[in-house]
Formats: sequence, C-alpha cells, structure tokens
Amino acid sequence: MEKLHGIRACVFDAYGTLFDVAGPVAKLANEIGPHAEDISKLWRQKQLEYSWLRSLMGVHADFWHVTGDALDYALDQFHVSEPGLRDEILALYLKLDAYPEVADALAVVKAKGKLTAILSNGSPSMLDAAVRHAGLDKLFNMVLSVEDVGIYKPSRRVYRHAMQKLQIHDAPSICFVTSNTWDSHGAAHFGFQVVRVDRFGWKDDRLPGKPAALVKDLGELSALV
Ligand code: 2OP
Repeated sequence: MEKLHGIRACVFDAYGTLFDVAGPVAKLANEIGPHAEDISKLWRQKQLEYSWLRSLMGVHADFWHVTGDALDYALDQFHVSEPGLRDEILALYLKLDAYPEVADALAVVKAKGKLTAILSNGSPSMLDAAVRHAGLDKLFNMVLSVEDVGIYKPSRRVYRHAMQKLQIHDAPSICFVTSNTWDSHGAAHFGFQVVRVDRFGWKDDRLPGKPAALVKDLGELSALV
C-alpha cells in the first residue's frame, strides 16, 4: 500500500474505530434475550440516524442523550422492558473495550512524531470515560468532541474544528482514521487523507470523497504515515 505524504497528525474517530461498541449488549446478552444482536445493531443505526437527523433539523442534543434515545428505541422495538436493564447497558457504554491493537498502534504513530487526536461525536464526558477506561489517555495530544461545535459529523464544521485545534492549516496534512464509511466520505470530501479501517467488511458508500487507504486494523497504520 502506498505511503501517505506530508502527514503531521493522525485524527481518530472513536466509536467502532478505537472502541468496540458491540461490547455492552454482548456482555448482557443473557439478560437481554434472543434478540440481543439485533438490538445492538439497531441501537447503533438509530444512534447515527438521530445524530444526522438532529443536525439537519437544527435541534442538537449531546451524544449521551442521543445514545440513550436510540437504545430506548431498539429495546422497545424488540419488546425488552426489564427494569434497570436499559441503565445497565448504557453504563457499559462508558466502559467500552478498545480493540486489541489500538494502544500499540497509537504508541508507534506517536513515536514517529505525529500529533494524535480523537475527533468524535461523543460528548466530552463519554470520551473521557472511554479513554481512561481503556488506558489510552497518555496516547492522545487532544480529545476533541463535536460538543464544541454543536453539530455532528459529517458536517464540515466539525472537521474544520480539528484543524483549528491542532493549528494545522492544510487539510491533507491530517490523516483521518475511521471505520465508519459515512465518516470516511465526509472527512475525505473535506480534504483529509483518510484511512478507513475495514473492521466490518463494508463497501464504500455511494457518496463523494474517497479514502486514501483501506486497512484491516490499526496495526497497518504506522506503515502509511
Ligand atoms: C464517533 O466516534 C459516532 O463513531 C462515531 O464520532
């Protein structure tokens, strides 16, 4: 795979890229019942839809709120209403596991002299909890949340926010790393060089913006930057 040129910083999406969002429902699968996996998928889908729809509607609420609403929808859809279960699942979203290769991959990128940051839809307290729980706090120069902007990715305003915070004035100097196809298109169309982590075997969407590279996990990143 061809090396990307001129990269000064690697900016990472959080959920699904660094952190495994399937964990909470998988850990409580017995309590949730036979539709646990469907609930997990619908929860994620609705969480994303609500973020985009709220952005279009101009009614922002933070990602913790959106994540709770999406979980309520998914549980309701599959008629799961055990008292306390919703809060138990949600609490685990603050203690997500990082994918196994993440810490080492970040350390190598940092040792190469690149700045490292998270740019996520997550609220600051959600991101802070996840980063600490996974022991990644020393590996990032910055953890940036859309809450500073008040709209969700893939708004261009969010990607621009990362440039301003990192004080990098040319977009292609930023390598944006995400496992979400919609985020990959958004960031590439904005002007970042995108590495898409193909954790789920998804095709590129039919949207503007093309990733510069496709990798199977973050272990392949250091050879690219
Ligand atoms: C993010 O971390 C939701 O995965 C998305 O911004």
